[in-house]
Formats: sequence, C-alpha cells, structure tokens
Amino acid sequence: ILSPENCDIEILDNGRTINDFIDNKIQELGSKDSEQPFYVANLDDMVKKHLRWLTALPRVKPFYALKCNSSPAVLRTMIALGTGFDCASKGEIQLALSLGVAPDKIIYAHTTKARSHIKYARTHGVNMMTFDSEDELVKISFCHPTARLVLRIAVDDTCSVIRLSSKFGARLGTVDKLLGRARELDLDVIGVSFHVGSGCTESSAFKQAIADARHVFDIALGFQMTLLDIGGGFPGRNDFKVTFEEVSEVINGALDEYFPSDSEVEIIAEPGRYYVESSFTLAANVIAKRVILDDTEHSEIVENSRDRTMMYYLNDGLYGFIFQCLCSMQAVKSSEQKYQSIIWGPTCDSTDKLSDDYWLPELHVGDWLLIDNSGAYTVSLCTEYCGFERTRIYPVVTAETWHQCAPIVSKRVKSTNCDCFSTECSKDLAKKDLHCMLLMKL
Ligand SMILES: Cc1ncc(COP(=O)(O)O)c(C=O)c1O
Repeated sequence: ILSPENCDIEILDNGRTINDFIDNKIQELGSKDSEQPFYVANLDDMVKKHLRWLTALPRVKPFYALKCNSSPAVLRTMIALGTGFDCASKGEIQLALSLGVAPDKIIYAHTTKARSHIKYARTHGVNMMTFDSEDELVKISFCHPTARLVLRIAVDDTCSVIRLSSKFGARLGTVDKLLGRARELDLDVIGVSFHVGSGCTESSAFKQAIADARHVFDIALGFQMTLLDIGGGFPGRNDFKVTFEEVSEVINGALDEYFPSDSEVEIIAEPGRYYVESSFTLAANVIAKRVILDDTEHSEIVENSRDRTMMYYLNDGLYGFIFQCLCSMQAVKSSEQKYQSIIWGPTCDSTDKLSDDYWLPELHVGDWLLIDNSGAYTVSLCTEYCGFERTRIYPVVTAETWHQCAPIVSKRVKSTNCDCFSTECSKDLAKKDLHCMLLMKL
C-alpha cells in the first residue's frame, strides 16, 4: 500500500487542470492500447475541507476514519493537516503508526475487537478505545487494563444512508449497568461516543445524540468523564441533502447547550466521508454494451427509438466501489438524446450493478465515464474478484497550493511541532487561507 508509485503526487503547474490531467491520462492509456480505470485524488479538495472544518466546528478535533479511504496520499495529507485518526483494527493502527502518527492521536474506535488486536494496541501505546458491552469490558480488563475507555451509545440513525446502531452502541437503559461493571473491573471510562450513521440527512440527529451523551455524563457513576466523541456521518459532497455548515450549526448549538466550553470536555469526531468523498473522481471505461428494446433483446437497433434501455458494462463496479448509489456521472463523449441506462460493473456477479435507472446520452464501447464523489468507501472496499486489478490512484495537487504551502511548511518543520488544533493556528490559517499543512511531508 505504501509502494512509491502509489504515492507519487503530480503537481499541476502551468495552469493545468484536473480535467487536463484526466484527458492526458486517457490519451496515454489509449496509446498503450489500455482502458484501465483510474481514480484521480484531488488533494486541494481535502485541504479545503479541512479549512471548512476548522471554521465551522472550531471546538471539534477531527480524528479521520481510516476505513473510509486509507490510500497513501490520503493518509499522508491527513497527517500533514494534523488530524488524529480513528482506527478499526490492528492493521489500521499498524498503518497509521508506520506513517509516523503518534499513538495518542489514535482512537481505536471499534467496539468488538479481537484480543490480539487489543494487545497490539497496548504494546504500541494506543490507549483510547471504545466499548459497548460487558463482554468487551472483560476482554479489555485482561488485554489492556490501563486503556482509556469510551462508551459508545446507540443513537437514532434512521435518517442515515448507512445505519450502524443495530450493530454497535449500548442502549441508554443499559449504561449504568455497564459503567458499574467497568468500576468493578477497575477500568477507566473517560467519555462517550456515538455515530449517527454514515451519510446523515438530518442534522437534528446530532442534536439528539449529543443530548443522549449528556445523559450518560450525568450518570457517570464517579468516573471523571472528559471526552465526547461525536463520530462520523458528516456530508462529503456539496450536493448532499444537507450541507456541512448546516450540520455544524446544529452541532455547535447542541454543544453549547449540553457541553459548554467551560465544562472542559474535549470534543472529537471521526469523520471519514466528509474529507474524501468529493476529492476522488473515477474514470471508468465502457467495455461492453447491450441494447434492450421493449423487454426483448434485439441485435438490430431501431434508429432514434426513445424506448430502448441501454446496458453498459464498466471496468470498475461494485467490487471496486460500493455505496455509489449516490454517485453522479458525467459522460465524456455524448450525444443529446438521453436513454434509461443500467450500469453494470465488470465482474460475473449480477449484484455488481451501479445504477438501474440512470438517464444518460448514448455511450459507445470505448467511451469514458467520469464519476465524481468517488472517494468514500470505494478504494478501501476494492477486491480483485474475477481477476480485475485494483484501480490505480493518481493524487494531484495544484502548483498554487503546493508552492503556497512549501515555505510555510519548511519554516514550521524546522522550528516547532505545530499543534494544528490550537486556536492560534486556526486563526493563522484563516488569515493565510492555507494551513501550515506540511504538504512537504507528502
Ligand atoms: C466507528 C466509526 N467511526 C467513523 C466512521 C466514519 O463515518 P463517516 O464516513 O460517515 O464519517 C465509521 C463508518 O462506518 C465508523 O463505523
């Protein structure tokens, strides 16, 4: 995963745009008689997202959720931006540590962990971890008795695209029993976490969840609780039903009400989708096509018939990028007339379907589709099923961003370890428009 060719960053200079980069890449592939799909990772987009975060949620420290997209350029950018990290397993902890992330900037945010993974966390100084059951507490008391525990509660996730509360989180009614058990086992519970579900469409879900967390703080059973973790669920694309700023406003209001600044509770979050969804574009090739007429397949196509349904087969699909029911597509080559189109992935599995009902201009074998907002839960879920290679990622950054950052970066690297969460730094950032985000480290 850390092979140098996967980490190469292309600096877009002389006014070159991402579209120019994509066009060139497609031409280059054509000249090699290849139609391999590829992703372009727009690192400027991630930097802008971070600036928006610092502005909209100044009290909340982001711990980026690796599971969402752990490609090297993404992780290195997040490290450069100075965020913490949410890891779900030994493998993710290993990856973060290997890139130089300090153990105290990691939360092991999985409530059902393997014993060997907990022991690995302890040996490597990763102490903060979540739990939601008595059995997990018992396991932790054997494997990492000095862990700093965060109780994950189940919250209303009914308005989210990916719901999580049926699998994770303690019900509020069980909290005092769980805390009592933690006390018996002489464990340290430092706070509460929740996740409203990924792709949350209702900002009020955050407000209710924060109120629920307050309830747990009030029970506390003698534990000194100092941490609130508001999880993930933040929108990752600009055309989503609710904007990041709208969600943030509700969160800030709820934090002020239930956890005012003078309560001295540290607030963190575990955003995944927010940082990466809009920064990736997938370029996939139409490798095959079928035309369906009136439920019957015909080899002869009736010219100009509007009743036909098109079936396109792309060379990246469900096994390459799941959750893309949300995706938006843009035809590179197109005619004006649009047809109902079914879009399939390349594998032999009939569930490898990307869209059932997408209206597109007619495409032809060899055309390329650019699929925006492809950065969340895509590359991290990729398999090589049916022998299709993993899709390559090309990270790009504009020369403007790169050069604006470089001098600030080298100065900071020499002088100090910047604490990117400090208020002073956030102000500095807003002024300079670009963070001390250590892109040099990339
Ligand atoms: C524990 C945990 N934290 C954070 C995330 C990231 O969520 P999102 O991508 O919606 O921000 C997930 C996603 O499944 C998760 O399970």
